[in-house]
Amino acid sequence: MPQYTKNPPLRKADLAADPLVQLERWLTDAQNAGMIEPTAMTLATADRAGRPSARVVLFKGFHDGGLTFYTSHAGRKARELAENPHVALVFWWDRLERQVRIEGLAERLPRELAQQYFARRPRESQLGALTSRQSEVVASREELDRRYEENAARYAGRDVPLPEHWGGYLVRPHTVEFWQGRAGRLHDRLRYRRENTLWLIERLEP
Ligand SMILES: Cc1cc2nc3c(=O)[nH]c(=O)nc-3n(C[C@H](O)[C@H](O)[C@H](O)COP(=O)(O)O)c2cc1C
Repeated sequence: MPQYTKNPPLRKADLAADPLVQLERWLTDAQNAGMIEPTAMTLATADRAGRPSARVVLFKGFHDGGLTFYTSHAGRKARELAENPHVALVFWWDRLERQVRIEGLAERLPRELAQQYFARRPRESQLGALTSRQSEVVASREELDRRYEENAARYAGRDVPLPEHWGGYLVRPHTVEFWQGRAGRLHDRLRYRRENTLWLIERLEP
């Protein structure tokens, strides 16, 4: 483990009143730090019985007091979200020695937003989303490639339609923690907690 010495102290007074504004600042820092996927975040879901699963997805923007991401509505995470909307998200930016932990509720984004986002994606990604039956077992790589080529031929010369099974989610946080590495393992942890319409900020022990 390195000694974390990069960061100046993180004080309550430095933070924005709204955690999403603070997150936007840290995302901008991460984007300027030259990392490959600064918007990658680990998304943890749980099924009805509370059994967790986690995977990385890409943060795609802020909307209506929350964070958005896009995915298949047919895969495992979608199945779990339909059973249990409670989620956790984690960003980790190693170059900045910073972590953000988010907890909240996920809901589906309106289809118009998915439509707009899908239309802006590269054609290969559109064909990939159309082709993939996310989280299902597939017999071979060849079968996947064959279905992709079939779709590429079917939609040659015209727009790839938004698949029925594909769209976005909005995560509305109730808790957001900003963690910054500091020397001697006495890291800074400042946590926003929603109380009615207000955000309270508390410092946590590292
Ligand atoms: C850097 C990175 C970014 C990813 N972004 C997405 C994404 O935005 N949406 C998505 O559905 N899967 C994304 N994935 C793939 C997921 O991690 C996962 O394999 C997939 O969504 C299936 O998850 P599920 O079976 O739990 O539904 C990404 C993976 C990595 C490593």
